Amino acid sequence: MTSRIVVVGSANLDIVVPVPHHPARGETVLGEDHVQVPGGKGANQAVASARLGGEVAFVGCVGGDSAGEVLRASLIDSGVDVTSLLTATDTPSGIALITVGPDGDNAIVVSPGANAALTSADVASVDSIRTAGVLQLQLEIPMDTTIAAAEAATGLVLLDPAPAPADGLPQRLLDAVDLLVPNETELALLVGRPVDPDSIDDIGSAAASLGVERVVVTLGSKGAVVIANNVVTRVDSPNIDAIDTTGAGDAFRSALAVGLAAGTDLVSAAQVAARVGAATALRFGAQPSLPTTAEVDELLR
Ligand code: RIB
Repeated sequence: MTSRIVVVGSANLDIVVPVPHHPARGETVLGEDHVQVPGGKGANQAVASARLGGEVAFVGCVGGDSAGEVLRASLIDSGVDVTSLLTATDTPSGIALITVGPDGDNAIVVSPGANAALTSADVASVDSIRTAGVLQLQLEIPMDTTIAAAEAATGLVLLDPAPAPADGLPQRLLDAVDLLVPNETELALLVGRPVDPDSIDDIGSAAASLGVERVVVTLGSKGAVVIANNVVTRVDSPNIDAIDTTGAGDAFRSALAVGLAAGTDLVSAAQVAARVGAATALRFGAQPSLPTTAEVDELLR
């Protein structure tokens, strides 16, 4: 039986500019026309999980502006339950300023706006967090709120530690997490030392030092490494020419959540997730690019 997925996190309006290269400090770069699309790691993960067949609810906060209406509508259109999506009337919605380079690589600045208004008390009043089979978390809302959600959960807690705090994760959060899914950069930040992305042993020992039961480290085009029960397993990613990698990591994490909610083992779920992430990078924009299961096969054909 498939269990319910609840996502507690951010929703941002993404303002995306394709650029010939990302600006260096002090540099001005002329890009193409900008595009506005719904995004935010939390909302992306809710939409991705729903499009991949999950039964999903989103807990977050948007502003009382037109961006908030766009963000809410995108979740509803994908079948996400928004009963616990709050509106902070006098606050602007979260936005993300994104440049996308010719290789599909991105650089992102987030202005949290209403995401910062989601409090521990807000999540404490949401019973679906406690009863969720899988709880998906990221770090674009206040840390105290994320910790409160993780500690309230009785199901599996999956944390995407992005953006990773430079001083590591609070022990209370680590203690409440069952599955941590950092990328290679976040893993290095969390363990406070460089990690060799080409060394499965180095990735495995760094991940093990975090003290979380299960860790999946994403490596972009190089796939992922699964660390569980003292076994380290490499998972390959399909070869693609990426258009825009924005949202690919969110899609990967959601494919893991949907697989685990359906009772799939972690390595098999990660193999599917690598395909879902790659397929997502073949289309432009965060939520517009998130595929259904059928679209994953079509895109990678
Ligand atoms: O993971 C991609 C997301 O990061 C974007 O949609 C942006 O809003 C930021 O939250």
